[in-house]
Amino acid sequence: MFNLKGFLQLSKEAKIPELKGWVKEANETILKKGADLKVSKPSKITVAEIKKDRLYLTIEGEYPRPHDALQRFRKFFAEKAGKEHKIGVRGQIAEEYSAVFELEQKALKTVSVPFAEVKIDGKKCSLKFKDLTEDFLQKNYIDRIMNLVKEKIKYQFYEGKDEFSQTTWTGKERPTKYRSDPSEDLENKLWIKRTASKGQWVIGREFTVFLNSLKTLMKENVFKKLGFQEMIFPKFEYWDYPKGSGHANTIYPNAYFVMVPKNSSTEFWEPVSDHYKITKEIDKKGILERVESVGIMSYAQCPPFWALLQQSTVDESSLPLKVFDWSGPTYRNEAGGTHGLDRLEEFRRIEMIWVAKKEDEIKIWKDIVESLKNFYDKVLDLEIRTDRVTPWWMAHAGIRTDKGTDEMGTIDFNAYLPYRGDRKQEWLEIQNASSNGIKYTDGFGVKLPKGELWSGCAGAGLDRIAVALLAQKGVNPKDWPSALTDLVLPDLQNINPLKLL
Ligand code: SER
Ligand code: ZN
Repeated sequence: MFNLKGFLQLSKEAKIPELKGWVKEANETILKKGADLKVSKPSKITVAEIKKDRLYLTIEGEYPRPHDALQRFRKFFAEKAGKEHKIGVRGQIAEEYSAVFELEQKALKTVSVPFAEVKIDGKKCSLKFKDLTEDFLQKNYIDRIMNLVKEKIKYQFYEGKDEFSQTTWTGKERPTKYRSDPSEDLENKLWIKRTASKGQWVIGREFTVFLNSLKTLMKENVFKKLGFQEMIFPKFEYWDYPKGSGHANTIYPNAYFVMVPKNSSTEFWEPVSDHYKITKEIDKKGILERVESVGIMSYAQCPPFWALLQQSTVDESSLPLKVFDWSGPTYRNEAGGTHGLDRLEEFRRIEMIWVAKKEDEIKIWKDIVESLKNFYDKVLDLEIRTDRVTPWWMAHAGIRTDKGTDEMGTIDFNAYLPYRGDRKQEWLEIQNASSNGIKYTDGFGVKLPKGELWSGCAGAGLDRIAVALLAQKGVNPKDWPSALTDLVLPDLQNINPLKLL
């Protein structure tokens, strides 16, 4: 049940003798329009009185929502009052608004939301709002706030639960030959070096050769065979992309934010510049006052791909579209801390995206899973396992228990890390492959002239593949699979190793 107390601001002081009749007429006609009387109580104006230049109203009911009813009545009233009394309506305010509704589950604890006071009693929830503006009412924030409360309560049941995971395939167990943490060995050899920034490394020449060789093998054995071609995706995401991908709902604790100057004049920045010249400290506060937030550094890699297709209809002759991107790193603020090369904040990834008609999309997904299994198991000779897990975009949104389906979901590829210990638990996710249904095409407004357009994506953590391979085989190139050794050795031999005194 909803209740609104507010007023219409009139253009001048007024006396309208017909008001009672108009309210009765509105209650019987425009306020009932579209209401299904079996499922909801129609909203009704219960009080209407003019004091000076304000028409005070109380509206109660379920459908239309009283704020909608207020809108409808405003139009109706303005026409009549304009014609008969030369009075206009200048604006509307809801001084008090309350919504009382049933919850699906009993909340485990209370929740809070912006703009409203929330009270929860068992399965009954009441929201109270004060002084709501026209904009607030028209944009239907009230229903969004009700949904948000319901969603928060639903999420309370996921907290502390393990993410859904079911093993679908386990590769052959390999003998353990090496038990060190490869990141430490590589650091000692100066193949990589930690920077001052959390979870970031500068990659030396030798390790660059190694990573490039892994990429070459992936291109030869996966992309070429499946017909994927290279693209370059932006690595900065203007806010439109997190909005389209859904990350704008929840990304904040994990994001690398991007800010740009509000003004680019030297004078505007002079105090910040001077502060550094004098103190040799960065004036972070001064900077924050002079920038605006324009987006985030790429987090999931695929969202900015959609700039290519957004708000378009794709000609069927272009399908299936199969591309990959490895043009730069992606970024995450890792609340749980970083480690070696397997938990980074700046990390190199390989993202495949395919866009196709539903049946074709699902088939491509399954072919990719088989091709990647072959690549990791046979070409790189890694001990891996595949798991069906919660679809990645749901996991990013904090939903942990969804299983996905055979048509839409995520398969994770995990590799065993001997240095961490027990084979039962010490596996690292190196790759995923997902059929995303219409999640992205819908989010970015991409259509076919006829029928559903689906998409999928698969992401590999290049640094993680490297860690898995080195953790299982050691850091000596002679112990690697011959295809890799053959690619790496000629370039490695040309490098004069760096020595620091
Ligand atoms: N975009 C997907 C993810 O971030 C696959 O890389 O998990
Ligand atoms: Zn993706």
